[in-house]
Amino acid sequence: MHRLSLDLGERSYPILFGRGLLRVKDVLEPYLGREGVLVVTNETVAPLYLNDVLKMLGGRKVDQLVLPDGEQYKTLDTLNLIFNTLLEKGHNRGTVLLALGGGVIGDMTGFAAACYQRGVDFIQIPTTLLAQVDSSVGGKTAVNHRLGKNMIGAFHQPKAVLIDINTLKTLPDREFKSGLAEVIKYSLIIDREFFAWLEENMQDLLARKDQALLYAVEVSCRLKAQVVSADEREGGIRAILNLGHTFGHAIETHQGYGSWLHGEAIAVGMVMAAQMSGLMGLLTSSDVGRIENLLRAAGLPVVRPENISAQQFLDLMAVDKKAQRGIIRLVLLESIGTAIVSADYDRSKLAAILELR
Ligand code: NAD
Ligand code: GLY
Repeated sequence: MHRLSLDLGERSYPILFGRGLLRVKDVLEPYLGREGVLVVTNETVAPLYLNDVLKMLGGRKVDQLVLPDGEQYKTLDTLNLIFNTLLEKGHNRGTVLLALGGGVIGDMTGFAAACYQRGVDFIQIPTTLLAQVDSSVGGKTAVNHRLGKNMIGAFHQPKAVLIDINTLKTLPDREFKSGLAEVIKYSLIIDREFFAWLEENMQDLLARKDQALLYAVEVSCRLKAQVVSADEREGGIRAILNLGHTFGHAIETHQGYGSWLHGEAIAVGMVMAAQMSGLMGLLTSSDVGRIENLLRAAGLPVVRPENISAQQFLDLMAVDKKAQRGIIRLVLLESIGTAIVSADYDRSKLAAILELR
């Protein structure tokens, strides 16, 4: 078992990762406390991994809640199902919630934990690549609103993150590739060498070879942990983790949650951010090309959907959480491996990028 730490003083927590960890009995024992446990999962993940998790928890009395599957269920209504179960089963403030699934389950369960009785502990057991390298780490929790993604939520850090890369073997190809978008994101914003490694090793990653997966998960979690421990509440540097997200969230919201996968929308968003950086003279055209090529090699889309007008983009981007006084702030690249956040860009250049099809 490998271990990283996310350092946040007394709220620091471990990120445990490796092969077959769901079969290691009692691995979560130090983080569970003495009271109840509620495992929250969905109808796709439950038949695959719920039994392993129940066995791992040994003889404890554990409640379980199996939710419908899909981004369209990441809502306040679904959140209420978690609260109903917690109350009906008599869970108190010592209860620990376990989020078993992808980013949708992790974000909702984390938000439920942030709210229930003004805050209980939770543990992330991410089972998608996206959740393992991104959403399970860092304490952002939320549900969607009709008018914007992740608009209702809280910062609430888990007590531990348990990553079993074996769960990635059952992940549909499209979901796996969606997770690769976030892996590539880290290389673009912070780590040029990792970008070169990804260029070299994309085939092994796509073949889901253990060593490649372990390395990609390790580097991604280490980079994310570094950024979050420097700026937990996104007052500054953490915003770079949103490379491609301002454009990407607009695509997701416009197309309807669940039709474009998060990573797919982010992939296109990162291309748009790279193009904008190129147009501003920050990034060379050969680097813009390398970025597009790597995303394409990962099987991700690099061209935005045709049916969004530039004005619709602008309207949706203005809802972005990074916007300040109505001004859209963009994460841009100064080079591969160096990101900046800026509101100081030429609006006509942004308009040109939004018109590109
Ligand atoms: P997801 O949770 O919808 O999971 C994708 C699909 O894979 C689902 O159908 C799920 O049931 C299925 N699945 C999960 N694990 C599986 C497995 N091992 N085998 C087979 N099928 C499996 O999507 P996601 O991509 O994991 O997460 C996307 C969500 O994460 C979005 O809502 C996004 O906003 C959020 N997110 C949050 C953060 C954060 O910091 N909190 C960061 C990035 C993304
Ligand atoms: N996924 C962006 C963040 O965690 O800040």
